[in-house]
Amino acid sequence: MARCRVCHTRYDPDDPVDAARHRRLHDRVTRGLPRRPLAGERVLWQGDGLRVTVVAPAAPRAHRRRVEEIARIGAREMGYTGSPYSLREPPELQTHGFLGYRGGRLAGVFLLARRPVEAVAEWVEGEEPDGVAPRKGWRAREAGKGTAWSVDFLWVAPRYRRAGNGRRILTEAARYLGVLPPDLAWYPPFTAVGRRFIPTVSGSTFRVAR
Ligand SMILES: CC(C)(COP(=O)(O)OP(=O)(O)OC[C@H]1O[C@@H](n2cnc3c(N)ncnc32)[C@H](O)[C@@H]1OP(=O)(O)O)[C@@H](O)C(=O)NCCC(=O)NCCS
Ligand SMILES: [Zn+2]
Repeated sequence: MARCRVCHTRYDPDDPVDAARHRRLHDRVTRGLPRRPLAGERVLWQGDGLRVTVVAPAAPRAHRRRVEEIARIGAREMGYTGSPYSLREPPELQTHGFLGYRGGRLAGVFLLARRPVEAVAEWVEGEEPDGVAPRKGWRAREAGKGTAWSVDFLWVAPRYRRAGNGRRILTEAARYLGVLPPDLAWYPPFTAVGRRFIPTVSGSTFRVAR
């Protein structure tokens, strides 16, 4: 058995069926799912080959199913099993999926939900978050107040990174939800890349959700 270092799929390279299964998953993890927006999917932004759509909690099941599918692909790359989004999200979270489509692919997903703000935080010098430990890489500067729109999950397919797609999807998400990007909260654990991305939205201090 082999385990791909990119898509984390375990497969038997000598078994043609298994090897084909890996190739298909690997392609989806690196470039996204081959999908175009569904009829009725609400487009928030379109330009430079990117289309951003929103899937609200009350959206049709087929739309929510799509969020579930792409979040599962993103999680696979990050080494998690399962999907960070389900068709039965707790209603109080009001989880919204923001999808990014590029080149015939569904290539990005951001999940935003209503959560209490635990703290206003800063990054800890010399301690990288690892995507697993919820309290690693940051420390509270002061206690948080109230609730906020929290970025629970964010993923752009590797092929489309560092081209402003993540920032665009989140900008449109914040506009749709009626908040300023720096007022968003972030739901731990964080990753090393997240640590580089979050300050471009929030500045040097940021709200942590619980
Ligand atoms: C985090 C993620 C969604 C960012 O998506 P993206 O489309 O690449 O982000 P953008 O191109 O909009 O980046 C905006 C800015 O963030 C910073 N940034 C993003 N990725 C970075 C990296 N790998 N290294 C350093 N800075 C980075 C840069 O300042 C970038 O602007 P620049 O390219 O003009 O320098 C994407 O890297 C990803 O899916 N990573 C894997 C999942 C993950 O780790 N999620 C974070 C969990 S906390
Ligand atoms: Zn692979």
